[in-house]
Amino acid sequence: MSRHITGSEHIAVIGAGLMGHGIAQIFAVQGHSVSITDVDEGVLGKAVHNIRANLSFLAENGIGETAAIDDALSRVKSIPDLRHAAEEADFVVEAVAERLDVKQDVFRRLDEICRPETILATNTSVISITEIAAASKKRERIVGTHFWNPPYLIPLVEVVPGADTAPSVVDATFELLASVGKRPVKVRKDVPGFVGNRLQHALWREAISIVDQGIADAATVDEVIKNSFGIRLPVLGPLATADMVGLDLTLQIHDYILGHLDRSTGPAAILKEKVEKGELGFKTGKGFQSWTEEEMKECRQRLLNHLVHWNRTVGTSRR
Ligand code: NAI
Repeated sequence: MSRHITGSEHIAVIGAGLMGHGIAQIFAVQGHSVSITDVDEGVLGKAVHNIRANLSFLAENGIGETAAIDDALSRVKSIPDLRHAAEEADFVVEAVAERLDVKQDVFRRLDEICRPETILATNTSVISITEIAAASKKRERIVGTHFWNPPYLIPLVEVVPGADTAPSVVDATFELLASVGKRPVKVRKDVPGFVGNRLQHALWREAISIVDQGIADAATVDEVIKNSFGIRLPVLGPLATADMVGLDLTLQIHDYILGHLDRSTGPAAILKEKVEKGELGFKTGKGFQSWTEEEMKECRQRLLNHLVHWNRTVGTSRR
């Protein structure tokens, strides 16, 4: 790919599941032609239908125009064969299962199929970009692009270089993502979990530990977050908050509290027990809390409404 973004790049998305179809949608809406592929023909067959449903939902809620949906969908081609889907691409996003062997195999094949200048990106949640690229020859064009679910409503994409990624590939990827309305950030080092999932799971480890120790129940833990620092977070991240309250106070607090926080290096026993008992959360109606069908539906809807509202208000003002 020319390291200069033109806005007419051809995009290929590998994996048409939850993330893949949403990533294809982002590029198609912004005028790019997109090929999408999946080893599961049933999943691939539903990709365009799912994108239409997402775009209709967004248009009904004031994001995008109903009249533009057919035009966007006309740019998306579902192609079962990886070679046909990827050979003309300028930029490829891999969104297949979160397994190192599967991803390495996809990248090894893409390395052979794609033109030398094509950039190859992986949407891995936590796996090292260097490891994913290890089985490929042209490792300098492989980069991490960690989108968040749903990718068309959550703006952030973490752009992560592997050990061999060329800086020009990182820059072009950043520029392409910004040009389609995402909020890319450059992560400097290829570490498991990058930035977002390290922070998110540090919080989840402590939340689970608090429940495990009987300090508060799950609903109370969530209530504490949603009604305290959770309200502040969209405006002020933790480091700006530390600056605001003062690093001297932050030091005093850390001096006292850090020794009391959970430092375990593996999953909590309570989490393992629940999974063993089949208490998987929404999938089975019981996890840290019990959920009726009605409550789960209401919870999903509340989240979508919030994300739509955020995109129409805060998100718009940031663009
Ligand atoms: P998913 O299971 O919905 O979709 C994965 C798709 O990849 C499946 O349809 C599967 O048939 C297909 N696939 C598997 N092997 C393939 C191959 N060799 N070639 C082509 N297609 C293949 O999974 P999801 O949630 O979309 O996740 C995809 C990737 O995105 C994973 O790496 C995941 O960790 C990452 N991710 C997921 C997020 C989430 O919230 N679900 C958020 C951010 C990243």
